[in-house]
Amino acid sequence: MNHTKRRSQRRCWSLLSITIIFTLTTLFNINPSSSPTTSPEKPTVDRCSGKYIYMHDLPPRFNSDMLTHCQTLSQWTDMCRFTSNSGIGPPLNNKPRWYRTNQFSLDIIFHNKMKHYSCLTSNSSMASAIYVPFYAGLDVARYLWGSFNVSVRDSASLDLINWLKTKPEWTNMGGKDHFLVAGRITWDFRRLTDEDKDWGNKLLLLPEVKNMSVLVIESSPWHSNDFGVPYPTYFHPCSEKEVVEWQERMRRVERKCLFAFVGAPRVNQTRSIRGKVLEQCGRSEKCALVRCAGSDGGNHQSEYCHEPERVMEVFERSVFCLQPQGDSYTRRSAFDAMVAGCVPVFFHPGSAYVQYGWHLDGDYRKYSVFISEEDVRDEKVGIEEVLGGIQMEDVERMREEVIGMIPRLVYGDLRCEGIESKDAFDLAVEGVVNRVGRVRRGIEDGGRVHEWDHFF
Ligand SMILES: *[C@@H]1O[C@H](CO)[C@@H](O)[C@H](O)[C@H]1NC(C)=O
Ligand SMILES: *[C@@H]1O[C@H](CO)[C@@H](O)[C@H](O)[C@H]1NC(C)=O
Ligand SMILES: *[C@@H]1O[C@H](CO)[C@@H](O)[C@H](O)[C@H]1NC(C)=O
Ligand SMILES: *[C@@H]1O[C@H](CO)[C@@H](O)[C@H](O)[C@H]1NC(C)=O
Repeated sequence: MNHTKRRSQRRCWSLLSITIIFTLTTLFNINPSSSPTTSPEKPTVDRCSGKYIYMHDLPPRFNSDMLTHCQTLSQWTDMCRFTSNSGIGPPLNNKPRWYRTNQFSLDIIFHNKMKHYSCLTSNSSMASAIYVPFYAGLDVARYLWGSFNVSVRDSASLDLINWLKTKPEWTNMGGKDHFLVAGRITWDFRRLTDEDKDWGNKLLLLPEVKNMSVLVIESSPWHSNDFGVPYPTYFHPCSEKEVVEWQERMRRVERKCLFAFVGAPRVNQTRSIRGKVLEQCGRSEKCALVRCAGSDGGNHQSEYCHEPERVMEVFERSVFCLQPQGDSYTRRSAFDAMVAGCVPVFFHPGSAYVQYGWHLDGDYRKYSVFISEEDVRDEKVGIEEVLGGIQMEDVERMREEVIGMIPRLVYGDLRCEGIESKDAFDLAVEGVVNRVGRVRRGIEDGGRVHEWDHFF
């Protein structure tokens, strides 16, 4: 390797750190929203018809107590910072509507958005679905690491079920109209056995919870009671205007890098393609690489990894963003990339195509590129060659599709008027209501098994 030559060649993103492309020029007014419950009377059409949600009033041990004791939520992360601002976290400096949002904060965000939902009802017989604001993700995270035995890990889930079963709303349909939001991956709630050495709790395996719909940031392709919804991103727009302005900005931004990867290697995981992706990106002058610390320690960690502004800059400057699976199929990064108008490149169908049916288009070719993981592992393809070979008009069409999806992928700031078009929350509620409707009519599919052999 000729180091001198290498250093003299300017990588596509070398000027990033001094480029300020993130400043929003518009002055925003926060509109402390008028109370959603005082919607004007409409004698003829009930605009909430078919959309009413009843929210259980859970004892605080199932939700707000966890926030009060936020220092117990994680051994590694100070979750107290991230529970602020109704769960979207501390604001980024000088960047209105951008927050340091933790990827595991959907329990809180969803609950707070639901408190402001304009079609809440206190009459459960009018409700299309019944929301259980249990912070299942925060609950399990307290016990995933350390020597907590299975009875400790399962206790809040079992306690919740006992509470729910005493309620008249439960008996009505055996919980089949109930849903909850667990802002972690499904595998944290599907412990294989009752041995202490196995991972997670058994929330999703409880017979009562099998009757419910559970929204998670990564669902199981082999079960039918959980549904994938987007990871929270850093962007929480207040109005339609702000989203449209952001979309416009992402259409205009100059993308000097053909592709980008922000992530860590998976040392000793021989099936992982992370190493190959890092290597191919690191070799290419057209790739923006931000190498993060993996299980090999902090050796090559870039200081960019945990800086939302920096990560977003890299994505905004790139045409394609690589999203190889990590410890599980999905990544928060895929949503950050799409919000930046960067076309995601997936290597496994489990990373998006079989996950987010309520939010992403059924035809994945419209908004993403698929490169088979096996081909990368066997070194049958070069990522740069594949991406560089895509026609400009196809690239533009995909990017436009991705930019068009941005409103659907963000959780709008609940403290203001909100986005007129549906945001990730609205689509999730709609998805649940439709699902419960199918269950009521007795036409819900019994199971879901995703075939993905044809992808490889
Ligand atoms: C609740 O809704 C049901 C069905 O619409 C209705 O029959 C009932 O009178 C309502 N109960 C109250 C207390 O408003
Ligand atoms: C599990 O751990 C808790 C707390 O340390 C303890 O009180 C309990 O006896 C343990 N249960 C079993 C079955 O070991
Ligand atoms: C699940 O729902 C069915 C139908 O409503 C009900 O009969 C059954 O008891 C429920 N299961 C549990 C474990 O509550
Ligand atoms: C990887 O495996 C080697 C050899 O078994 C071991 O020495 C090393 O600690 C492992 N590294 C990690 C990060 O697990």
